[in-house]
Amino acid sequence: MSDKAILEIGGEKYELPTYTGTENEKAIDISKLRGTTNGVITIDPGYKNTGACVSGITFLEGDKGILRYRGYSIEELAAKADFLEVAYLLIFGELPNQEEYDRFHSDIKKKSIVDEDVRKIIDAFPKTAHPMGVLSSLTSALTAFNPSSVNVDSEEDMYNSVVKILGKFPVLVAWTMRKKQGLPLDYGDTSLGYVENVLKMMFRQPHEEYVISPILSNALNKLLILHADHEQNCSTSTVRIVGSSHAGLFASLSAGISALWGPLHGGANQAVLEMLKAIQEDGGDTAKYMAKAKDKNDPFRLMGFGHRVYKNFDPRATIIKVAADEVLGDLGVDDPILDIAKGLEQEALNDPYFVDRKLYPNVDFYSGIIYRAMGIPTEMFTVMFALGRLPGWIAQWREMRLMKEPIGRPRQIYTGATERAFIPVEKR
Ligand code: ACO
Repeated sequence: MSDKAILEIGGEKYELPTYTGTENEKAIDISKLRGTTNGVITIDPGYKNTGACVSGITFLEGDKGILRYRGYSIEELAAKADFLEVAYLLIFGELPNQEEYDRFHSDIKKKSIVDEDVRKIIDAFPKTAHPMGVLSSLTSALTAFNPSSVNVDSEEDMYNSVVKILGKFPVLVAWTMRKKQGLPLDYGDTSLGYVENVLKMMFRQPHEEYVISPILSNALNKLLILHADHEQNCSTSTVRIVGSSHAGLFASLSAGISALWGPLHGGANQAVLEMLKAIQEDGGDTAKYMAKAKDKNDPFRLMGFGHRVYKNFDPRATIIKVAADEVLGDLGVDDPILDIAKGLEQEALNDPYFVDRKLYPNVDFYSGIIYRAMGIPTEMFTVMFALGRLPGWIAQWREMRLMKEPIGRPRQIYTGATERAFIPVEKR
């Protein structure tokens, strides 16, 4: 691609600079377009062709099914890394050495205490509240208990805010679940690893010792890594855009959690499992649901299928499918839901509707099956996604602030009424 793009509007030609990323991705730089063309803007609903930023965190190439965090393949990280190492990598750019890792973990543990008054806020929610709504509110409430804003020009301040949220967030996740189940809220055990402690905080029963299962901790470690970042998706873009107004980190994250909740995004993992259960209860007739998904007059979509960026396969889904088989095998769980999922996947992979539209299983298609085998309630699935995505959101927020990005403020093309006179109510 030459270094200039030529745009012709009404016979007038404009030269636009181009931009090339380290993986040879090309972009036309339209940042000065409106000024030079006297008001012309681009329009791209859903931002399917719009790069909102330049970023050095995550590379993904949908057509080839490539996903890398800071240059490391997701396959290698999921097989070899620890979630906290990946969090450090995403946020600070490099894998930590042992000393950096130990300090990071120790600082996170020190900051994990949540103000006791947060319990009163949790108490005020009805038991029926969806955990994502509770988690978003609690994350926002943290701003009230930590009112001083982060000085983004101070490395120390930045670091402290990062370890603070990484420490407190899993506590909020566990408390959200335990409150719903009527269990006491506590802090687990900081002598454990980050992921093991999450499990203990979530599952420990008050009357017995909690023994960490390596099967569960390995599975959760893998799931959290696979969800840790995915460049400019809906929730991450939300975090960046809210943060671009210089709203604080916790407020930005709370907005990201709300964005993640939707069934077209992170909420899909809950929706997938509900769909699979509904198919099972309806006699397991997958063909019926395939037909519904293809019927344009039926709003039903095959949840867990399709992706805005992956039009070949979602590499995370490939890893998760193998993990689901392993975890269920290791735990000795024979889940008919997994058979329905596999059947549906096979049918879809051979169906021209799905093949033509390049609709493949995404990360959420199999993750719910693992969460279910681990004993995590369906309504908590998207919360688990949020726990995994936390380092990605933090990394993206930090990058956006360090790059001094301007406030996010898209334009629009107005299609409403042209100017008209006001008519008093009695004359309308
Ligand atoms: N089931 C049936 N048809 C589908 C599905 C599906 N799951 N997904 C897309 N399609 C069809 C659309 O109806 C459309 O058909 P048409 O061209 O005949 O009109 C075509 O495929 C393209 O779909 P779009 O919605 O335009 O694709 P887009 O890139 O905007 O959406 C999305 C991607 C939102 C993920 C979509 O595939 C979807 O709704 N999937 C189900 C929800 C889901 O699993 N979300 C999780 C995504 S992964 C994540 O966020 C972590």
